[in-house]
Amino acid sequence: MSRRALIRSAADLALAAAFGPVASRGFAAADGATATAARHPSGLRAGEFPAGFLWGSATAAYQVEGAWNLDGRGESIWDRYAHTPGKIKDGGTGDVACDSYHRYREDIELAGKLGLRSFRFSIAWPRVQPDGRGAVNPKGLDFYKRFTDAVLEAGMRPFPTLYHWDLPQPLEDAGGWPNRDTAQRLTDYAKIVVDALGDRIGQWTIFNEPNIFTELGYLRGIHAPGRKDAPAFLRATHTVNLAQGMAFRAIKASRPNSEVGVVVTVDPMLAATPSAEDKAAAERLYKFHNLWFTTPALTGRYPDGVLPRERQSELLGLREGDETLVRAALDFLGLNYYSSCFVRHDPAGNGVPGLNAKAEDLPATMAPGHTDFDWKIYPKGFHDIILSMAAHTGHIPIEIAENGAAYNVGPGADGMIHDDKRIAYTRAHLLELSRAIRDGAPVRAYHHWSLLDNFEWSEGYTQRFGLVYVDFKNGQKRTIKDSAAWYARVIASNKVV
Ligand code: FCB
Repeated sequence: MSRRALIRSAADLALAAAFGPVASRGFAAADGATATAARHPSGLRAGEFPAGFLWGSATAAYQVEGAWNLDGRGESIWDRYAHTPGKIKDGGTGDVACDSYHRYREDIELAGKLGLRSFRFSIAWPRVQPDGRGAVNPKGLDFYKRFTDAVLEAGMRPFPTLYHWDLPQPLEDAGGWPNRDTAQRLTDYAKIVVDALGDRIGQWTIFNEPNIFTELGYLRGIHAPGRKDAPAFLRATHTVNLAQGMAFRAIKASRPNSEVGVVVTVDPMLAATPSAEDKAAAERLYKFHNLWFTTPALTGRYPDGVLPRERQSELLGLREGDETLVRAALDFLGLNYYSSCFVRHDPAGNGVPGLNAKAEDLPATMAPGHTDFDWKIYPKGFHDIILSMAAHTGHIPIEIAENGAAYNVGPGADGMIHDDKRIAYTRAHLLELSRAIRDGAPVRAYHHWSLLDNFEWSEGYTQRFGLVYVDFKNGQKRTIKDSAAWYARVIASNKVV
């Protein structure tokens, strides 16, 4: 079962009722992306993007770098997990991945040639601080200095994430994210990196998808570190919120002019039936899945009506003063969008007290298509969730940090990769993104996941998300797919072609 199917599972009404006028305005405007060519007050027509829009791609350290034990890098929870037999679908590991540790110049040059303006990547904590505490590995920092310089030389903005899931294993051995101390460890690491690279980098993302790595790693046990422990999972979510607030202040102290944000994966939560129960379940899951790591940052409080009020402190391990610690006046919000969910009330629940909501894939009547990963294709949800997240977060600038699709197309008889489905997927989503911007969403960037085919976590190498094909068996040869050439034309014309 795909990891998305586990957390995903429609009624626009439920969301509109729950989340007010901005959401409902978006939901009412069905299919506007293709229906109209009229000029919008913003001056943009359907499929067009604002001047200066930041077109980019995204990767993550463990998925592309390889060199897992070179130059002083420590072990991460993903090394340990992938090295445990039976955990990864094809037995794959990130030991070599795309070998980007050695080939980063080639990859960065390629991205520059495609015309990308923003290069999203992540920094591997165990490369910088092998034990997750104490001594710094200078070779690790030097690597990211060279890497960042190469991105700048190629004319792109370096846009790093500090934590894209590779916790140093010694910290997991000490309790991992459920252990409150991990917040201080992350803060120390963030300071080390920003002190060293802050002269080159102006925008930092602290976490990638905290809602996903805590749930899949500690509740469902299908990602590293592979634990299935609901109480530990809830505490992990609070440690991550503490870490976010603390690291935010550490970064600002080191570089007051830097911008700091978070990337969450977001799903419209559509009630499966119009029943009051399913609508309420969809609302609870919306808050838990989409808002759990932004509302505390922006308000100091967890969203109401998810955990039972009288048990919330105990379940999360809240202490006095935490409402101040978790606060972070995020400068921007990063959103990842892949699909949407149908939600039903589920009295049995999934171990999270009070949540009682079950997510399912959208039915075929709403989302007839799916990617090779079996993720349902629902571009309209992209528009809708951007508008509702913009409303929830007070219209701070939004960056689309990831959007993309797995299509496992290999070279054709001509040696080229004709991945028309990826083009169709991306075109449909970009039309919806343009529509969201024309409806007032403050989106300034789009990063396609991914630049390269890479190690797709528990799926190993079975899911290809790249604009660029990687021949893992034959010398890691890179070949530009049709989708990359198409994306380069979109970037050059600043509109969907
Ligand atoms: C996101 C992850 C990213 C990649 C894509 C397909 O959830 O952030 O690393 O695996 O899914």
